[in-house]
Amino acid sequence: MLTVQNVTKTYGSRKAVDDISFTLGDHGILGFLGPNGAGKSTTMNIIAGYTSSAAGTVMVNGHEILDDPIGAKKNVGYLPERPPPLPGHDGKGLPFFHV
Ligand SMILES: Nc1ncnc2c1ncn2[C@@H]1O[C@H](COP(=O)(O)OP(=O)(O)OP(=O)(O)O)[C@@H](O)[C@H]1O
Ligand SMILES: [Mg+2]
Repeated sequence: MLTVQNVTKTYGSRKAVDDISFTLGDHGILGFLGPNGAGKSTTMNIIAGYTSSAAGTVMVNGHEILDDPIGAKKNVGYLPERPPPLPGHDGKGLPFFHV
């Protein structure tokens, strides 16, 4: 279960993510659609704990990503665009590498 609530992220004066909220159930599939610069990668980076949000909460299976980053990351598999994945860094292995 993933809950993203009122998440906002700014880079200087630029709002990369502007007050987004959504929920993903245990058996759902969710994709982000949007033009270049819409904030898709930034949102994923916040959910995965790669970057922090300026406001809002992200709950991953009951663990808040900033309050309990290790608990949350144990429930996330994530392959970022950068840096390119190394051998063994698949969706399962990478989070444990970072934890
Ligand atoms: N590290 C950063 N420093 C400054 N601005 C950033 C940074 N990362 C993203 N941005 C800005 O935040 C906004 C959202 O970028 P983001 O990369 O999340 O969009 P995106 O939807 O993933 O775009 P794309 O489809 O091109 O991958 C853009 O205006 C971008 O220029
Ligand atoms: Mg992107």
